[in-house]
Amino acid sequence: MPLPFDCRDGVLHVEDVPLPAIAAAVGTPTYVYSTAALRASARAFRAGLAAVPRKQLAFAVKANPNLAVLTLLAAEGYGADIVSAGEMLHALAAGMPARSLIFSGVGKTRRELAAALDAGIGQFNLELEEEGVVLAAMAAARGERAPAVLRVNPDVDAGTHAKISTGRKQNKFGVAIADAGAIYARLATLHGLDLRGIAIHIGSQLSDLGPLEAAYARIGRLVAELRAAGHAITHVDLGGGLGLAYRPEEVMPSPAAYGAMVARVTRDWDVTLLFEPGRFIAGDAGVLLTEVLWVKPGAVDPYVIVDAAMNDLARPALYDAYHDFVAVRPSGARMTANIAGPVCESGDTFAMGRDIDDVAAGDLAVFRTAGAYGATMASTYNCRALVPEVLVDGDRFALVADRITPAAMLAAQHLSPWMADEAA
Ligand code: LLP
Repeated sequence: MPLPFDCRDGVLHVEDVPLPAIAAAVGTPTYVYSTAALRASARAFRAGLAAVPRKQLAFAVKANPNLAVLTLLAAEGYGADIVSAGEMLHALAAGMPARSLIFSGVGKTRRELAAALDAGIGQFNLELEEEGVVLAAMAAARGERAPAVLRVNPDVDAGTHAKISTGRKQNKFGVAIADAGAIYARLATLHGLDLRGIAIHIGSQLSDLGPLEAAYARIGRLVAELRAAGHAITHVDLGGGLGLAYRPEEVMPSPAAYGAMVARVTRDWDVTLLFEPGRFIAGDAGVLLTEVLWVKPGAVDPYVIVDAAMNDLARPALYDAYHDFVAVRPSGARMTANIAGPVCESGDTFAMGRDIDDVAAGDLAVFRTAGAYGATMASTYNCRALVPEVLVDGDRFALVADRITPAAMLAAQHLSPWMADEAA
């Protein structure tokens, strides 16, 4: 099978679709996802865990909540890790069984907890003792027991960007590992909870398995302590976090290497393991297609001004993230340039002084590895349209999320009644 993104006859394709055809039909900027790439990464992740006997795979919806993407992953046997009632709505709409949903998140509202109980989701990941008390009372009032695990903060530095690191003791997530035993014991007495294990997630875009292994080993010791205290531990949720190579020269741990580490560390645990991969599944399956508007002289290097901006792909502005920039019709020539969008902030800059394909106004180009934390983090800042999404499957493509226009957004705004009166 050809790579899902490759150059044929000098034109970049996604599977069998030339990107200029998508630009002509849908306009730019737009996200473009490959069905084949999504399936391949979903299968590679599962295959990497072949040595883990009992497991449940839950795609982290936050990485890409597009209905078509979730529907494909549901067909691959994935459930979902959700962090809001909105994500639950998307996962259920995609046909994921309620029992396959895991509700994570440090700020679940009572309304969201009730909606998740109504839906009958598979697991609540409790982030603090009080949340467990509230959930237990709500479930008991319905004559139910909510399936739950306690999220523990193992105090491990995941070695990733500070804004996507979650497992250090100063982070807001989980209960301190030193307090976990006592909290677990108190929550285990509540009739409204079916407390069955532990969850962790130490961060995202992890390039090194070392911190993950250290965190898992700590959880293994906690599981043994909890069992010694008489608790029946049947489930451990190992979170997500496996990183992707955003730069061509980067080397990341493979799902096979990750799976081998997991199998080794958890060999004696005798539990069902849950996994919440997001980036690994969707990241490489998407590009952001954009058109070069201008090439503008700069003090040092020229500015390539593209029609995509920080509101469409926020990662460079938020995390100084690198996204490879490739021309759709590369000539072979190179240039050193800054790449920036139209938004009125200096932070709306995708790259500075980067060696890229030579491009000119009117050319199409893509930002790669944009399928995860791309469209989902888009905004309408500067009254720009909400970026659309396209799915490719072989030689077919379809719009799977509309471009929400400024006119539609304006139609959702209203003058106050008194202003309308005064205007009449
Ligand atoms: N489980 C939990 C509880 C999480 O908080 C996350 C991500 C995941 C699973 C999925 O992690 P992954 O496999 O995708 O690394 N917007 C940032 C990433 C934020 C990740 C938040 N939590 C970015 O663009 O890099």
